Amino acid sequence: MTAEIPVIAIDGPSASGKGTVAALVATRLGWHYLDSGSLYRIVALAAVRSGIDLQAGNELAELAQRLPARFCDGRVLLDGDDVTDAIRSEASSAGASRIAAFPAVRGALLERQRAYRVAPGLVAEGRDMGSVVFPQAGLKVYLTASVESRAQRRYKQLIEKGLPVTLHDLLQDLRERDARDAGRAVAPLQQCADALLLDTTAMTIDQAVDRIVSWATERFAI
Ligand code: DC
Repeated sequence: MTAEIPVIAIDGPSASGKGTVAALVATRLGWHYLDSGSLYRIVALAAVRSGIDLQAGNELAELAQRLPARFCDGRVLLDGDDVTDAIRSEASSAGASRIAAFPAVRGALLERQRAYRVAPGLVAEGRDMGSVVFPQAGLKVYLTASVESRAQRRYKQLIEKGLPVTLHDLLQDLRERDARDAGRAVAPLQQCADALLLDTTAMTIDQAVDRIVSWATERFAI
């Protein structure tokens, strides 16, 4: 039965806007939405909070397996504590990218991600949605933008929040994260051969959403 539930897998690098775009596509279609990166972020934050070394692959995997996290009305709860903002910090981002390199951590999160495949459909975004988690997805999109424009977008967001960042540091951080996400041995960030490329460097969010919705409408005959 589950195999008949349509999935749109959207993968791409950090700060490509895929989170915003994927959530809007899900809303437009009335489908469920999986932000898989948030799971890696929660594991990283939970590890720091419980004193687990970010190099300790097995302990991290155990933590990922029993992760006491819940998503409730757009908020993220860890052990009942609201961590919605905490998991978006640069420290949680960097931690997530590190712990995501452990195969045991990825394995521990696999079933939890697949459980999001619920009717009428799922829009899942991350790095390995099309390659590992939902290889049978009916529509795969590789959403990207130039590293300069991604840094610029992130810079604007953080400055608006009043955070003291420089464009130079953000560019360097994004380049390092891209290299780590694409260079790891297990489930590296990559464009699947059967994924449609969407380069949003010169596109607005609405244009990107429209494009994916129109691909979905055609692909799934909805
Ligand atoms: O999408 P994001 O920036 O919230 O992801 C945070 C980190 O988690 C990112 O650096 C790589 C990792 N990640 C992953 O390895 N696989 C996924 N499916 C999603 C995220």
